[in-house]
Amino acid sequence: MPDKPAGMRFKVRNENKNALGGLATRKQITIYFTQAVDAPSMEVLLYLPNHVSGPVPAFAGLNFSGNQSVHPDKGIFMSDRWINNNQKGIQRNRATEASRGSQASRWPVETLLKNGFALVTAYYGDLEPDHADGWQTGIRTSLQQELNLAPDQWGAIGAWAWGMSRIMDYLETEKRINSKQVALTGLSRIGKAAVWAGANDARFALVVSNESGEGGAALARRNYGETIAQLNRSFPHWFSPAYKNYNQAPDKLPVDQHQLLALIAPRPLYVCSAAEDQWADPQGEFLSAVHAGPVYQLYGKTGLGTAQMPAIEKPVGETIGYHIRTGKHDINLYDWQQHLAFAQKHFRKKAKP
Ligand code: GCU
Repeated sequence: MPDKPAGMRFKVRNENKNALGGLATRKQITIYFTQAVDAPSMEVLLYLPNHVSGPVPAFAGLNFSGNQSVHPDKGIFMSDRWINNNQKGIQRNRATEASRGSQASRWPVETLLKNGFALVTAYYGDLEPDHADGWQTGIRTSLQQELNLAPDQWGAIGAWAWGMSRIMDYLETEKRINSKQVALTGLSRIGKAAVWAGANDARFALVVSNESGEGGAALARRNYGETIAQLNRSFPHWFSPAYKNYNQAPDKLPVDQHQLLALIAPRPLYVCSAAEDQWADPQGEFLSAVHAGPVYQLYGKTGLGTAQMPAIEKPVGETIGYHIRTGKHDINLYDWQQHLAFAQKHFRKKAKP
């Protein structure tokens, strides 16, 4: 994981203290990765709760379809980047007005704000467009010199994870944010990137893996649901080339995903699955959370505190949390409510002397 480029800078493009009917302050910030006029950049959207004074905790995570997709709020700048046509309101790989709020069910902005949390997000395609040739126009190419890594030394998942750390760099400068209480979250492929970012960057106080599946929380050596071979075939750009050596031999992997999760210790970690999402291997995600536990114990912490798969919608765990809910591959209000409660519990504990 390369460090931040020396010339990185932030520009607040817009601030509205009366957003969402007065509930929030909305800030939109461009992170320019170099000093150049035409520097590669990412657009950050931040909502801060107005009813709380002082620094607030935050949830941070990348989105799939541009910042305008997370809420119908007309003040959100529309992404002008390449976006997959399979996303709602996207035509000829560009966002249209119909994409406003198209992902709102995945981002319960008001719920977070009312609970005193800020929300910060950016479009993952700002780092690298998610297709096999995306690296050519993404930061793996445009920042190759600054970051000192050849494009084939890392993958798109790495580039997205790197972007999460750059959001953290910004949050450290934002007075209204308690940067010691930033929870990093991600769904699916962005969840794979979130656990990788969380493992590399200890500034994230808490990490949430939402149905991150193969290459994320799920144990690869179980070889259940999506396999390494399928992952690398469908998405050859996600991981570094060496991963392909294990396509036919997952049992030869010297490591597995529970060890990735364990790198997040002793920070709180929440893993969740959906019953109908067998592709992501709920059992493998659960076992990974179980087997990260011994490293938490080295720090005197209890991880999950159980090796028994819980019933549907019965969250378990201590410093590692886990739930499995009904339904399909997605993130919904039920998931967020558990993540929020978990973050509140751990951040409150931290606040005590
Ligand atoms: C595909 C892919 C998964 C990934 C998912 C997603 O299903 O096979 O590995 O997690 O897309 O990102 O939604």
